[in-house]
Amino acid sequence: MNFDKRQIKAETNRLHEKLQHVGWSESDCELIAPLTLEINQLKKEKNAIILAHSYQTPDVIYGVGDFVGDSYGLSKKAAETKADIIVFCSVHFMAETAKILNPKKTVLVPALAGCSLSESIIPEDIRGLRKRYPNAGVICYVNTSAAVKAECDVCCTSSNALKIIEKMPQKEIIFLPDELMAKNMQALTKKRIISWKGRCIVHEKFSPKTVDEVRKNHPNAKILAHTECTPAVIKKVDMAGGTENMISYVKRSKEHEFMLITECGLVERMKVEYADKKMVGSCSLCPYMKQIMLKDVLQALKNPKKEQVIDLPEEVLKGAKKSLTRMMKMTEG
Ligand code: 13P
Ligand code: SF4
Repeated sequence: MNFDKRQIKAETNRLHEKLQHVGWSESDCELIAPLTLEINQLKKEKNAIILAHSYQTPDVIYGVGDFVGDSYGLSKKAAETKADIIVFCSVHFMAETAKILNPKKTVLVPALAGCSLSESIIPEDIRGLRKRYPNAGVICYVNTSAAVKAECDVCCTSSNALKIIEKMPQKEIIFLPDELMAKNMQALTKKRIISWKGRCIVHEKFSPKTVDEVRKNHPNAKILAHTECTPAVIKKVDMAGGTENMISYVKRSKEHEFMLITECGLVERMKVEYADKKMVGSCSLCPYMKQIMLKDVLQALKNPKKEQVIDLPEEVLKGAKKSLTRMMKMTEG
């Protein structure tokens, strides 16, 4: 597609207004303007919607994203959309979730991005756990494959995990695959939590020392952490939760300084959307989330490769939908 100088200039300005807060120059924005213009044009022509997780890079979020959010919010959006095509800018399991909730739509993933948590467990593991703990309810974190979701009683996300645990009828809960989140939940519930050995390679790396240093150097800063972090980190912070919980905290808080112990994409979002607040300390990059590039979004929209189209067997779709629908009922009800 060809765009004239005036269109490129207007798009550069639109992008720069947002991206300047995270260090993008006008010429950086000018370079991606033809790409974002073409993607946005194709979206209209094909009746497509782009859903982006908060850990995506700002060119994706502000350049082409129609909705940005956490795994729960994105699932809801995917379930409700009237668009014919959903382009999911995030890791593979989130795109699968969109397909499960809205199976008639074409769901595209620009890159085959995995996740250390979803790759830590397969359906046979759950069957083994059920045999060992026949009285336990099985909750699987949304960071699992569709085939694993199909074996669980109910799903959960970072924002509703505790609520789902408490609403389950069983006193014993197999909570998988995140071992650290399971420990963090155990600290908040009287139920017995049985965990698996999965870990998020991004969040497990943060150490309690980092929290101590930030407290020393920024005594007024509020420190928030994702519940995928270690219990030693969680013990020291002002709030623990999912990405959307962190955003609400920053939005509501009268404080000026924050440290977000999570992936850098969320910190960049805060810098763009709450430019008057200051983000301190360091963040960490998720190598999976960062695989999504604008050029692949364009290519997937134009002419998707077989592996970019989410396709799931009927019985997996059916089983996983039960777990996800139950989660939504338990969360909203
Ligand atoms: P949220 O649902 O909190 O956005 O988490 C997704 C994720 O992958 C965290 O690492
Ligand atoms: Fe998976 Fe961790 Fe990356 Fe989230 S941040 S997608 S849990 S590896």
